[in-house]
Amino acid sequence: MLSFIILVLDSFINAESPLHKEFYDRCCPSYKKVIDELDEKLACMKDRKEVRDAIMAFSRRYLTPKEYWNRCFEHDGQLDENDPDCEIWGKLCRKTAKHAFFHLHFEKKKWSFFSLTRNNLPPIHFYFNLYYDKHVKLIDYQHCSASERNIGYPHDNLEECFRHYEEVASSIPSKKVIKRYEEMKDLYLKIKAAEDNVHEWFKLLLEVKDVDFVKDNVEVRLGKDYFDVQLWKLYIGFLKQNAEYKRLIHTYSKYCRFFLDDHDMLEKYKNDMIEYGPINLPWHNCYEFEVQNGVEEAAEEISVEPEAVLPFDSSICSRFYDTYFFQSFSLPGPIILYMLKNANDRVLRQLFSSCKYFFVKNPTPICYRLETGSETRFNNEMLTLVDSANPNFYLKSTYITGCIRIFVSNTSFLSSLIPRLYSCKAKYIKIRYQQLSFDELKFLIQHGGVIDLFANDCEIKDANGDYIDLEKIMAFLPNIQFFYMKCIKVNANTGHALSNMKFNAKLSSCTIVGIRGQPFDSNEFLKYCITNKAERLYMNFCFDEEFDADFVKNFGEILSDYKKSNENVSFYLKHGNE
Ligand SMILES: *[C@@H]1O[C@H](CO)[C@@H](O)[C@H](O)[C@H]1NC(C)=O
Ligand SMILES: *[C@@H]1O[C@H](CO)[C@@H](O)[C@H](O)[C@H]1NC(C)=O
Repeated sequence: MLSFIILVLDSFINAESPLHKEFYDRCCPSYKKVIDELDEKLACMKDRKEVRDAIMAFSRRYLTPKEYWNRCFEHDGQLDENDPDCEIWGKLCRKTAKHAFFHLHFEKKKWSFFSLTRNNLPPIHFYFNLYYDKHVKLIDYQHCSASERNIGYPHDNLEECFRHYEEVASSIPSKKVIKRYEEMKDLYLKIKAAEDNVHEWFKLLLEVKDVDFVKDNVEVRLGKDYFDVQLWKLYIGFLKQNAEYKRLIHTYSKYCRFFLDDHDMLEKYKNDMIEYGPINLPWHNCYEFEVQNGVEEAAEEISVEPEAVLPFDSSICSRFYDTYFFQSFSLPGPIILYMLKNANDRVLRQLFSSCKYFFVKNPTPICYRLETGSETRFNNEMLTLVDSANPNFYLKSTYITGCIRIFVSNTSFLSSLIPRLYSCKAKYIKIRYQQLSFDELKFLIQHGGVIDLFANDCEIKDANGDYIDLEKIMAFLPNIQFFYMKCIKVNANTGHALSNMKFNAKLSSCTIVGIRGQPFDSNEFLKYCITNKAERLYMNFCFDEEFDADFVKNFGEILSDYKKSNENVSFYLKHGNE
């Protein structure tokens, strides 16, 4: 027992220091000395404001390890009723996070929570965005937003970002954007695989050809290991080569405020300052060749590349009829017709914009996104309709290629548009309150490319007024990843039918509300789930009240066992109104 206590104590340099002994032991003598002084000061402090001020003062002179910043946030993180308003604390945390970022630490989650403790009441927890004015291009941990910037560099959430991007776009993503995305997906895997080899890892970062990406990832990695001298040197070389002189000088100044005894580097720093400086620095202990400004570093500007898209000219129909007769063609008629018949939407777009003749022969205006909204308008390749719009004015033999989003209470809205459509290749179909025949649904999904089908509060029935069997719908969805439908039938064969189907994509989410019909083979259904599960799978099944209760109970047990065997599976099961 005693030896255990000694062991525990030994892993810290003294009871008050947040630093691990291993880290401390590797520091140079001069840095050890200043850390000792800081720890001594902190040891006699009780007040958290005092502690924070002492750490901030230290951080104006020396590169400051994450453990000390954690202390600033820990203290800020626990408020009691007598504390000033949380708003002020939020601001203080943001300021602290900004300083910590200069010291190469970036903690998106850990530092973003704080709780308010109240007398005799449960604490309230707050979450706020510490870095709202900064877009940090990290390989790991990204939240998703549908911008082109977020799919232009490698990270762990690329596929989801791309799906969002594709889903909300007002026109087909350009080939350039798609090519970049595919390359970044490959690079992500390579970079992850090379993480243990800093040279290889750094070389792969350069392949992204994005200076901000290199800066952000290298700095966050240095923040996790100040002792990685190889990486410091690679980074300094990179900054010089790319004429990033301000960052170069900053990086030197940070290095020399940690490796206090590295006089060779200090000499190089001085020479480069003479060559590329003067550049303002926020430190309070400047060398005579450094320039002090004491001013906080301004947030660096975020550059957003303009989007490259193929514009769709919605007036194309009205303009070209008068002119196309006078054009002459080098291709004989039948070849042109053959091309038209076999062209996919991307080729059609190009044919239409290269020559109006094609549009006459195949007058199918292309609409990437068809949606409902508060006003009727065309924007790029997107058509927004209000629910009272007369579709005859806006749609004629229209080719829907990307996305359909119909959220209106008029239950016949979509059904009345379908006769005005030439074809549908939409990958994202999200509809609500619509009544469709099975033939109409087939028209929308039979191309097989649907990734996300969301049909909430919709009724889909066949010619006899019956609901449709699950497997009959799934047969048209080989690429489905997200499925949400209401009122679907199952039968004795459903489990087998599903487990025998071939899918190209993996399923992430499956919700069926109002399941009716006859019990199926639960084990076959499980087989289907196991074979087709994406990295994670969420399932939500609500059976109708009349459904066989013993079956639902048994099905629930089988899913429950599956969930226990795999932490990436979750489900929710409901029978009737219970
Ligand atoms: C429903 O929408 C269709 C298509 O826009 C329209 O023709 C019909 O009049 C609408 N019905 C009602 C009740 O608004
Ligand atoms: C769950 O997913 C993670 C990756 O997200 C994977 O490493 C792990 O092996 C998965 N667990 C199971 C039981 O498949």
